[in-house]
Order: sequence, then C-alpha cells, then structure tokens
Amino acid sequence: MQNYSHTIPTKIYFGKGQISRLAEALRPFGAKVLLTYGGGSIKKTGLYDTVMDILSDEGFTVFECGGIEPNPRIESVERGVKLCRENGIEVILAVGGGSTIDCSKAIAAGVYYEGDLWEMASTRHGVLKALPLVDILTLSATGSEYDGGGVISNMKINQKLGNSYTFPAVSICDPTYTFTVSKYQTAAGTADIMSHIFEEYFSRTPDSDLADGICETVLKSAIKNLPIALAEPDNYSARANLMSISSIACSGIPSYGKQSSGWPCHAMEHELSAFYDITHGVGLAILTPRWMRHILKKDPSCEWRFVRFAENVWGMEGEDEHALANAAIDRLEEFFRESGIPMTLSELGIGEEHFAEMASHANRGGYLKNSFVALTDEDIVEIYRACL
Ligand code: NZQ
Ligand code: ZN
Repeated sequence: MQNYSHTIPTKIYFGKGQISRLAEALRPFGAKVLLTYGGGSIKKTGLYDTVMDILSDEGFTVFECGGIEPNPRIESVERGVKLCRENGIEVILAVGGGSTIDCSKAIAAGVYYEGDLWEMASTRHGVLKALPLVDILTLSATGSEYDGGGVISNMKINQKLGNSYTFPAVSICDPTYTFTVSKYQTAAGTADIMSHIFEEYFSRTPDSDLADGICETVLKSAIKNLPIALAEPDNYSARANLMSISSIACSGIPSYGKQSSGWPCHAMEHELSAFYDITHGVGLAILTPRWMRHILKKDPSCEWRFVRFAENVWGMEGEDEHALANAAIDRLEEFFRESGIPMTLSELGIGEEHFAEMASHANRGGYLKNSFVALTDEDIVEIYRACL
C-alpha cells in the first residue's frame, strides 16, 4: 500500500429537502450571487423558481449566467467571469449537473486569474484562488460536487481539458432533483460513476483493502440501482444511492493507498468529446470494455484484477481464470447495452478519420505509458477501432 494524504473541504447536505440550507450556505460569503445553470432543465423542473424564491426572500441580489453547455465551453467561462467582475459578485451558486458545476469552478477561479482564460484551463496547476462556490446537484455522474476539478472545452481547437480549480464550499445533494433526468443521461451518468471507479480499481497495487472494498461496493450499487432508476425514475432509494456513489467515486477516496492508473479511459474519452461533442458517460461506456479486452490481451499479468472484478462484483465463479476475466468484461458490456447506451462509435456517427490525432493528444508526453497497462498511440488507435 502506498502513502497518501487527502483533504476534501466541501460540506455536503445530502437528502430530501436539504435546500432549506441554501440561505445559510450562501450568507457567510456575501449577498451578491451569480446563479449559473445549463440549458433550461431547472426551469422545466421548477427548481429555478424554488431557488429564486429563496434568494429573494432572504435578501440576496441575483445575477444570472444560464445556457452553460454540456461539455462546457471556454466562452461560457469568459462570459461568467465578465459578469462576476462587472457586478462585484461575492459567491457563485451553480444549479445543475457536472457541466454547470465545472464551468462555475472555472468562472470562480477565472475571476482572479490574470491572463487568458484558456491559458488557465490548459496549463497544469493546483487549486487556484477563487470566489466561493455553492452548488445544487441535479444529475448523479461526475462527482464535481465533491472534487476540485473541472473539465472545459475549446471546440475551435478540439480540446477538452480537465484541471484543478476549486472545491465547492457546500454541495446540496437532493436525490429528488434527479427524478427528471432522462434515461439516457441516467445511464450515461452511472457509466461515468463506474468509470471513475474502474480508473482506480484497475491499479497494480494488490493490497489496499479499504480502497478495493469501496470500489467494489460502489460498482455493485451502480449495477443494482441503475436498472431500478431506469424503470422507476422517481424511486427515491435508487436515485439516492446513485447520488451518494457519484460523490464518492471521483473524490479520490477509492484510490487510497493505490498506485495511480493514469485514468486511460478518461484520457481517451475526452478526445472523443473534444472532436464530436458526445456525452461523456456514453463515450466511457463504449471505450471501457474495449480497453479492458485490449489490455488483458496485451499484458496477461493483469488478469488477476479482472478475476477479482468477476468474483467480487459480478459474483461469478469458476476454475478457469482466463474465462472468468473475459466473462466479466462481456457482462459489463451487456450491462451498458441493456441500460440503453449506444455501444459503438458508429452509432454516434463517428468514423476513424481523427483517431491518430486523438490518440497522440490523449497520450501527449507519453502520458499513458505509465497507466495500469502502458498504452502507446498505436494501442489507443486499436482501442478506438474496436469501438467502431
Ligand atoms: O443543461 P440542462 O438544461 O440543465 O440539461 C442537462 C444536460 O442536457 C441535463 N440535466 C441535468 N440535470 C437534469 C437534467 N435534465 C433533466 N433533469 C435534471 N435534473 O442533462 C444533460 C447533461 O448535463 P451535464 O451537466 O452535461 O452532465 P454531467 O453531470 O454528466 O456532466 C458532464 C461534464 O462533466 C465532466 C464531463 O467531461 C462533462 O464535461 N466531468 C467532470 C468531472 C469532474 N468535475 O470531476 C469528472 C468527470 O470525469 C467528467 O469528465
Ligand atoms: Zn468521468
């Protein structure tokens, strides 16, 4: 087991009715609020009105930055920063999914950033000085409500880059707000949660019992609760479980004591989204089983991890370890397909024309040569091809 240190400064209010905490969460930071949100789902669900009523009753002054895109763009960050600077905003309130929260983190940091905001998004740095951020989560997926990262896209140059910005001060996580999430986004979000776990679980460290146990519990909860949430969108227990595993999956906790895997599927997926603007979780669901088959073939010394995945997550049994490992991967692919996720890139209209460029960018600086099983540019192209 490796050394680790970890801090999460975010306070979570989890459960039904926790919006009652909103005013007290914002007040210590000031009265001038920038309300950020996406393409309008919060207006359809009525959450926008609820939030505005609370803010007005409690004497806050509200400025708005709506229309934040899925795969949020640098232009939205620029717009939000301008609004903050011009109006002396004291605190940002993000209401939405990972895209809105990520964009808000970049806005919060961008307010203090001297220089070009794409330079901020594309330069490696730690957590930055930022305006305080409070969020109300409406989609269980990214874990942005409980981490310091954000992912911003620049579609002009086909780049989508994750970076550190700031942690939310407070996240209000009420599972009832996810009752309206479409089947497609529910399945994609769960695939994202599972992928955050796979990126930690498939590590060379064999003896981090706590982290591996958390990983397996999260995966089993996703496998149990996604079909329920798809069949009964307002099943509180299913939505609540998906929301709590969303927060922990990307928090860093499931990697305690483990050697970093390099997050290969995320590196490959961000290229797909950068070129084709696809839903992050869908890209991950398509890539993951193909990446698994590729590395198992390339380096059979990693088979023990897949056997553990088969036994502890899927409850499979058998003497033939190779067969078990492959059966676990097949079952995962089937699970995503049964959840309604299109499981080939061709179904999304993606061909192989940019694969070489995407592979070289995903692997810039030989980044993925240190991943769980080292990947070359050629490996990545092969994995993309297997997804067609
Ligand atoms: O934009 P609106 O109208 O709100 O609609 C959204 C959007 O169309 C809709 N939606 C959200 N909540 C809803 C709802 N529809 C009905 N009812 C609700 N309650 O769902 C669509 C997708 O929303 P989005 O925020 O884009 O989804 P998600 O939470 O999956 O976020 C994806 C983004 O997060 C990044 C991804 O790369 C992607 O850009 N990630 C962020 C991470 C992080 N901060 O740590 C880690 C992840 O690995 C990921 O990369
Ligand atoms: Zn993800």
